[in-house]
Amino acid sequence: MKTIDVCLSPELMHLYKVRDRTVVVVDILRATSCMVTAFAHGIETITPVADLNTCRMMRHKGFIISGERDGKKVEGFDKGNSPYEYMGPDIRHKRIAFTTTNGTQAIEKSKEAHKVIIGSFLNLSTVVKYLLFGENNVLIVCAGWKGKVNLEDTLFAGAVIDRLRNHIEPDCDAPLIAQQLYNDAKDDMVTYLKNSSHVKRLDKLDIHKDIEYCLTIDQYDVLPKLKQGVLTLI
Ligand code: MLT
Repeated sequence: MKTIDVCLSPELMHLYKVRDRTVVVVDILRATSCMVTAFAHGIETITPVADLNTCRMMRHKGFIISGERDGKKVEGFDKGNSPYEYMGPDIRHKRIAFTTTNGTQAIEKSKEAHKVIIGSFLNLSTVVKYLLFGENNVLIVCAGWKGKVNLEDTLFAGAVIDRLRNHIEPDCDAPLIAQQLYNDAKDDMVTYLKNSSHVKRLDKLDIHKDIEYCLTIDQYDVLPKLKQGVLTLI
């Protein structure tokens, strides 16, 4: 049977061999939810970039430049990190260069994997189907917050593990922890996450509607995949 594990923070990546695995990168609030939304609304590619300056320079090559630091849109950038910014006709057939505090860093740390796909609650069933029929063992990489573990990415990992429980075997205890938390939370994730650190951070910035949206299950059936450093649709 294939196995599944969860890396609860990118700081723990050195513990995992990723070369022969399919990695699912997740940053529920909000980077990977934005990416999935953008692909569902017609973006052609997203290039994840780790630092602000590289991202800024990419405007000269015709990219829309998007990004946030500490939850706030970067000054001078075209777009920030709210999924609602990625629903309009202005992004259709365009290319985005994207840099975020944690999400794009987690992608950077995963790029040696056999395959890298982008997960969120918005495309949960599509992710699960892909993992079910794929040949590789699986690692879910939670973006967390600046190296620390967060609840929302762990809940997503738990949702995937719960749906695959009869088909893919947990590799260690992190999948069991994630699955248990998801089962505790699944009936009302918005309330469950009310005291979590990033929800409080977004609340302080007066960003409320993004939270509920990012916790919506199966809004889209798109699956972004990393190919030579660029995300495209499978
Ligand atoms: C990140 O990558 O750290 C986030 O998506 C932060 C945010 O909510 O904008």
